[in-house]
Amino acid sequence: MAEVPTAKLNNDKEMPMLGFGVFQMSNEEAEASVQSAIEVGYRSIDTATSYGNEEAVGRAIAKSGVPREELFITSKLWIADAGEEKAKEAVQRSLDKLGLDYLDLYLLHQPFGDVFGAWRGLEAMYDVGKLKAIGISNFNTVQTYDLYYNARIKPMVNQIETHPFNQQTEAHKFLKELGIVHEGWAPFAEGQHDIFSNEVLGEIAEKHGKTIGQVILRWNVQRGIVAIPKSVKKERMEENFDVFDFELTDDDMQGIASLDQGFKTVDHNDPEFLKYLYGRTL
Ligand SMILES: NC(=O)c1ccc[n+]([C@@H]2O[C@H](COP(=O)([O-])OP(=O)(O)OC[C@H]3O[C@@H](n4cnc5c(N)ncnc54)[C@H](OP(=O)(O)O)[C@@H]3O)[C@@H](O)[C@H]2O)c1
Repeated sequence: MAEVPTAKLNNDKEMPMLGFGVFQMSNEEAEASVQSAIEVGYRSIDTATSYGNEEAVGRAIAKSGVPREELFITSKLWIADAGEEKAKEAVQRSLDKLGLDYLDLYLLHQPFGDVFGAWRGLEAMYDVGKLKAIGISNFNTVQTYDLYYNARIKPMVNQIETHPFNQQTEAHKFLKELGIVHEGWAPFAEGQHDIFSNEVLGEIAEKHGKTIGQVILRWNVQRGIVAIPKSVKKERMEENFDVFDFELTDDDMQGIASLDQGFKTVDHNDPEFLKYLYGRTL
């Protein structure tokens, strides 16, 4: 089984560069998929309160028989729980649903609501060892710096949309300067924008005898970005895990760089999106 490289967080904790995402999975799908993913070799699983499948993920973890210390489990705080006390309670709820004593990483899912109160809640849960690392998600560079500057414990990770059509080059540079690990969500742009039939990616894939999915994940890893692809199909989980036996050349990297066009699956600067988030009941 391939050895997955790790990123070192600012508290020296190691985080696998490749993990498995469970967004938009029903409970049945999440339980079966996480079981399969662990069999394939994934040790890092990314869920969230808002995905509604923490219990299913927890059941799959329990059934896997893999020692807890070999796993890296991430969940996220929903905006309805943004606030110091509410965040502490929400972390405990996530732990109870997952059936775990601690989480490896907990993220503020969105940069909205009482972010600073929520962050203090996460810091408190970090202090008592229930969270081994804490971070943020969907924070732009200004929001990231504001929290970074004011926080007692600096964020360790920022999970942001990152794929060949939205490469986040500036954000990546900025996060690196602050010592925050860049984790990319939707490495395949959720399958949108004909990503799996893109010509540039197709040519690079053919040259290496790999698939477009593998080229995208390799591109992430070579840029130092943690990737968390989602699939409900075991053969795709295997394909997506098999990215450590080839290397993209500088030309390949430049070819992929030319695809950046700021295409986003969601726009965090759109007030309609914020209305949608606040309108959600979990
Ligand atoms: N923090 C946030 O706000 C946020 C937002 C979105 C996502 N995320 C995280 O990031 C993870 C990944 O993002 P995502 O789930 O949105 O999308 P994604 O991983 O970019 O794309 C998933 C889509 O690609 C398909 N797929 C997977 N592997 C493939 C392959 N090798 N060949 C062809 N198609 C393939 C999947 O279909 P099948 O399942 O049918 O294989 C699914 O339709 C999520 O699961 C979640 O953990 C976080």
